[in-house]
Amino acid sequence: MTDIKKGLAGVVVDYTAVSKVNPETNSLLYRGYPVQELAATQTFEAVAYLLWHGELPTDAALAELRATEREHRALPDDVKAAIDLVPVGAHPMDEVRTAVSLIGARDLAGLGSVMDAGGTAEENLERSIRLFAVLPAIVAYGQRRRRGEELVAPRDDLDYAANFLWMTFGEEADDVVVDAFNRSMILYAEHSFNASTFTARVITSTLSDLYSAVVGAIGALKGPLHGGANEAVLHIFDEIGSADNVVAWLDDALASKRKIMGFGHRVYKRGDSRVPTMKAALDTLVEHYDKPEVAALYDALESEFVERKGIYPNLDYPSGPAYNLIGFDTLTFTPLFVAARVTGWTAHIMEQAASNALIRPLSEYNGEDERHIEGCVPDAAVVEAAERPAEAE
Ligand code: COA
Repeated sequence: MTDIKKGLAGVVVDYTAVSKVNPETNSLLYRGYPVQELAATQTFEAVAYLLWHGELPTDAALAELRATEREHRALPDDVKAAIDLVPVGAHPMDEVRTAVSLIGARDLAGLGSVMDAGGTAEENLERSIRLFAVLPAIVAYGQRRRRGEELVAPRDDLDYAANFLWMTFGEEADDVVVDAFNRSMILYAEHSFNASTFTARVITSTLSDLYSAVVGAIGALKGPLHGGANEAVLHIFDEIGSADNVVAWLDDALASKRKIMGFGHRVYKRGDSRVPTMKAALDTLVEHYDKPEVAALYDALESEFVERKGIYPNLDYPSGPAYNLIGFDTLTFTPLFVAARVTGWTAHIMEQAASNALIRPLSEYNGEDERHIEGCVPDAAVVEAAERPAEAE
């Protein structure tokens, strides 16, 4: 009997130096640094640099990255036009996927052959920085468009997180909000071989280009078992309404075998290392916006669910209500995750490209036994090939 690892659970497929998830100690390290320390001390730009280069930037390197990022912040006209072609009723992840696809097509136009699209390490770093820089404009414009509002141009005097909020809401955010948002971006930036990163690595392993890998990763992230969960958490909060309703709601949900979004994790079994930091950020927002009822609902559902099932919250549980308090529409949550995770994805794409092996697992066939089309005579070349000795490994 072949030992099938359904969902690749427990399978180690490669080395990575980008991040380390340790389920035993519930810790997450980016290039060796605990993510909590990075969230407490760094800007998202510095963490992006760390993920790409392996070290935190010097002041000069950070200034250079910031200058490049600012240069590429504005939404290009053709990308805006492409977004406008996506039906307003479509999910914004489809909009983000389309925008990145167009950026890739534009950037790679003129390359004669698929053999050239993979790019050099240097070209891929430049592509990564440009995507990182423009994604806030794509996400922000998406939310504004759904609200019937005009595009807001970027501000050169603001850092990444503050500018992202500016482009979304058209007003300067308070420091406490910028800080919470910056932390969330850092916490979402990277998480080893999760489904979307693995998708990006699979695509890269065929020597396809970085944009195709990111587009594929966006598709994987859209699913509610992955990135879509932060959006689903808010739907659950809306359904429950208030802390008083948690017990009755949970009785029903568990009786109907519903998965409670924002809880559980394939790797962490005793709690997600990112949750305490994001919960602390949520607490600052609860205080800032004076919304104690949000914290009450959060705490009530968490304690009731953990007590009954022993399954702990994941990062999507605190980030959903945090993004809601900041003013993001629920549909915008997963695109925010894209803007953050593009740093981790591209770090993995470059790592995969630097030490590539085509990713091509095997499967155990469980379909019909061999059968034949009546009257069909096998081709002599096919018979000969079947008898040929196997190629050397
Ligand atoms: N709500 C209810 N039950 C849950 C649960 C949840 N959020 N997460 C896990 N479980 C239960 C499963 O029903 C299963 O129970 P069973 O053994 O009685 O069938 C058991 O716990 C194991 O779950 P399973 O789905 O096999 O674990 P997994 O490692 O494959 O799943 C997730 C991990 C993330 C897919 C899963 O926890 C989940 O669906 N969570 C909700 C979605 C979410 O928040 N995703 C974001 C992840 S960062």
